[in-house]
Amino acid sequence: MTGNRQTDLSDLSFDELDEHNFPRAEENEFDRVVERAISRRGFLGGVLAFGSGAAVMGTGLLDSTSAQAQAASRFAFTPIAAQTDGTVHVPEGYDWKLLARWGDPYFSGVDAFDPETGVSLEASDKVFGENTDGMESFVYNGHQLLAINHEYVNPKINLPLTGGETETAEDALKLQNMQGVSVIEIAEDDSGWSIVVDSPFNRRIHQNTPMKISGPAAGHDLLKTEADPSGTSALGTMNNCGSGKTPWGTYLTCEENFNTYFGTTEASQDQKPIERPFGYDRYGIANEGRYGYEKFDPRFDFSKNPNEPNRFGWIVEIDPTDPNNTPVKRTALGRFKHENAEVVLSRDGRVVVYLGDDERGEFLYKFVSNGSYVPGGPTEGLLDDGTLYVAKFNDDQSGEWLALTPDTTGMPLAEILVYSRIAASKVGATTMDRPEWVAANPHAVEAYCCLTNNKNRGVKTNAGGDETPVGGPNPRETNNYGQIVRWFPREDDHGSTTFDWDLYVMAGNPTVHKDAYAGSENVNEGNLFNSPDGMAFDSSGIVWIQTDGDDSNEGDFAGMGNNQMLAGDPVTGEIARFMTGPNGCEVTGLCWSADRRTMFVGIQHPGSNWPDGGKLTRSSVIAIKRSDNGLIG
Ligand code: FEO
Ligand code: CA
Ligand code: CA
Repeated sequence: MTGNRQTDLSDLSFDELDEHNFPRAEENEFDRVVERAISRRGFLGGVLAFGSGAAVMGTGLLDSTSAQAQAASRFAFTPIAAQTDGTVHVPEGYDWKLLARWGDPYFSGVDAFDPETGVSLEASDKVFGENTDGMESFVYNGHQLLAINHEYVNPKINLPLTGGETETAEDALKLQNMQGVSVIEIAEDDSGWSIVVDSPFNRRIHQNTPMKISGPAAGHDLLKTEADPSGTSALGTMNNCGSGKTPWGTYLTCEENFNTYFGTTEASQDQKPIERPFGYDRYGIANEGRYGYEKFDPRFDFSKNPNEPNRFGWIVEIDPTDPNNTPVKRTALGRFKHENAEVVLSRDGRVVVYLGDDERGEFLYKFVSNGSYVPGGPTEGLLDDGTLYVAKFNDDQSGEWLALTPDTTGMPLAEILVYSRIAASKVGATTMDRPEWVAANPHAVEAYCCLTNNKNRGVKTNAGGDETPVGGPNPRETNNYGQIVRWFPREDDHGSTTFDWDLYVMAGNPTVHKDAYAGSENVNEGNLFNSPDGMAFDSSGIVWIQTDGDDSNEGDFAGMGNNQMLAGDPVTGEIARFMTGPNGCEVTGLCWSADRRTMFVGIQHPGSNWPDGGKLTRSSVIAIKRSDNGLIG
């Protein structure tokens, strides 16, 4: 069934509701898509006029008397003002409550977080992890489950007794346990949503959880280590950033800045130059890891285990309904600093996964399976057999997906996957302004990617030496605001290798600038933001945009306030501020309860003592509802 915003969801069963939240475009959607594309071009034509250079973009784009500004808003809320304080704000008629905080136990008898001592080693893999990020909602046999990423840890507050220093193997293990993924069952009663303590679904997946490696690179020499001579079973997942959800009900967690977890003890032993394996520079693997794991856990010491970093930087598939399921690293989807994984289907049912690589001047990818997905049918091989493509955007607003194959790159397939960045450079992909989340519109064959910012645009090459010219979907030098690029696959088919593109929005500040840094027409004094990052469509077709940017509220960023979440209308371009986070935080991760009456939103690394007051700042997931319990979105 295709989602429709007029549908009354209250009559649907749990499983139907889950299906509703994963709608597939049907044939009758495609005519509407074409009509919308035509009207959309009229609206965004001004934004696109500067495609060959920022100077072409004039102040005319900021005309607040435009038809769009006067048209009735699609949104069922009154936009809120920018905020600079230490708590969460939502519009009138909406409420928010805490669902889970870092350190909250999943099981009875487990000690909660203590600000003086942190969490005990025994409890550290039985509590809600730190720095919540991407998350997805699942319904299984009437149980409401959430799978939630925990991107990284703050050692200072997890190891308070050592002032944040990793001094023992136990310290390292504790930090490893506080990161990864949580699967939790949640339930709602009169006081709101909470974790179902002791639910058999509750599970922590951390940096030592056994995982299987599958796909074309599995078993390759580059993935073999002394502990795993087969190159097919890894331990753990790390820096889990954005998320994804397959049509068959599994969770995809995305390994982003994995490079920062490795280091070498060789440097301290003698003064000879450190041997750095191929690919380390392109992926940013430094000689010292962020947590000092390498000093206590030889797996993270690349002088002893040079292939261990090759076993990270993948998309990992997890079955949230089976606590004994072994997560699977899907090498067919490439290795880079994965942001999220947006799964759609091509017209003939092949699985298409859009994938961003969040680094300045890196690329946007998609995977297309060889086989087709049939609801209820076998899924074996769908994320293992296929082709990885990388995007090339042309200045004339056309674009193509360039296949990464042995023919096009001159590299063996397994090496293409382990060194996807290097393969993509060989085919001339477009260097992007840090691709963060991709989101696909469930009501139109189009997808969006947040290009969060890029201070190096037009100034520095990427780590592979590729130029970062100003132009195309990256139109501003030293881009401090970010933009959202959108593409329309040709033949209205996500399986197509060609597309047309435009910019949905270019963030900026019209109160400070009158040139391209003012932003696009749909940016105004009432919705200022910078650095779009998290993004997801609801089933009604509204795109929700989360920010991870400069919240100083000064200079270029005056009037933007704290990081926030905005709602966007894909048809008119209207953007309205829905939520603001506590100062210092990043707003990241969102999904909906099965009945779409609750929106779950992640608040990562709040800068104040939110949410408890007292000494501690705690990353948390909140539940937002309408006061009248109506649908959100
Ligand atoms: Fe973990 Fe690119 O954000
Ligand atoms: Ca992000
Ligand atoms: Ca970010």
